[in-house]
Amino acid sequence: WKTLDDMDFAGKRALVRVDINVPVENNVVTDTSRIERIIPTVDDIHAMGGKVILLAHFDRPKGRVVPEMSLEHIAGTVADVLGLTVTFVSSNYAEAVDEMEDEEVLLLENLRFHPGEESNDAAFAARLASLGDIYVNDAFSAAHRAHASTEAIAHLLPSCAGRLMEEELGALDAALGNPARPVVAVVGGAKVSTKLDLLGNLVGRVDHLVIGGGMANTFLAAQGINVGKSLCEHDLAETARDILAKAQAAGCEIILPRDIVVAREFKAGAASETLPPDACPDDAMILDAGPATVAYIAEVLERAKTLVWNGPLGAFEIAPFDAATNAAAAKAAALSKAGALISVAGGGDTVAALNQAGVADDFTYISGAGGAFLEWMEGKILPGVAALG
Ligand code: 3PG
Repeated sequence: WKTLDDMDFAGKRALVRVDINVPVENNVVTDTSRIERIIPTVDDIHAMGGKVILLAHFDRPKGRVVPEMSLEHIAGTVADVLGLTVTFVSSNYAEAVDEMEDEEVLLLENLRFHPGEESNDAAFAARLASLGDIYVNDAFSAAHRAHASTEAIAHLLPSCAGRLMEEELGALDAALGNPARPVVAVVGGAKVSTKLDLLGNLVGRVDHLVIGGGMANTFLAAQGINVGKSLCEHDLAETARDILAKAQAAGCEIILPRDIVVAREFKAGAASETLPPDACPDDAMILDAGPATVAYIAEVLERAKTLVWNGPLGAFEIAPFDAATNAAAAKAAALSKAGALISVAGGGDTVAALNQAGVADDFTYISGAGGAFLEWMEGKILPGVAALG
């Protein structure tokens, strides 16, 4: 794919697909990171003499006009973060484009108000394409969707990746595409069922795979271990055993909890104890991995060159069950800061967990993507990336 540097923006209108699907409470944007991350693309296009028209979605209005989901509510924040005049346009797009000033940015209404967006409709894509001369995709985090503004439009105009798209793809390639070895993956979260493809892909690619969170309980149970009242998908025992066998055949070490932290209640400060993995009482739940597990993960990280992380190791939302996640994340951050480890993390909960642990800044790269990061870890080709050629 091409980058901004391969295009001639002088006097041209750039249609820039961005992901500003940011968290909003009472019409106030509570986290502006996704907006901040589009600044380099907007600034570079302006510096190259182009005009910027932002294409974006917000939430899931499913092809209908839902006033609460209008991008009008966040246009002011976009203007503040970009430090530019941002004009929100809800209709008569062509007229607004004709009248725009050089360093004015246009923000078109939530594309998902149009049914043609999510159906990747050719006519809707053509209508969008008619508004510009060059298409720039800077929305890696929406690239797992084959929508009119992420897929079809790329075939209608000269197209390239924006700076953020370039940065995300570069970081992810360094982590799994062509990584320095050994590679460790940490995969946590509640359910194995949502991460089957991901685990299946990783066992053939990484040298060590740490499985944490509720998912680990399913793997323990699949080996005949009693997990008491823990979150566990007993019906996936066979699948878990298949993944273990596949890993063994591929020479991938699966790391499961070597000790467990159990409690009878899931609430802040609940009385908890650390036990061997096969000693969970019938009336207790496993809510975190214990210190012996963390010590072993730290040892593996010390020998590793690359780490890719998705999902917490325990019920990190509530202390003290955030201990394993925090400790392992701190170790990875320290190694990354010292230049000994390339660490890449992504996925909604993961970034929240690393922020909570206070170590996100020391990771080599934090992806801004949720679903797209997962699909990329599953080894899927993302349609929005593929369409860039
Ligand atoms: C995201 O928030 O991950 C992206 O904006 C994609 O949103 P979607 O899952 O609604 O397609």
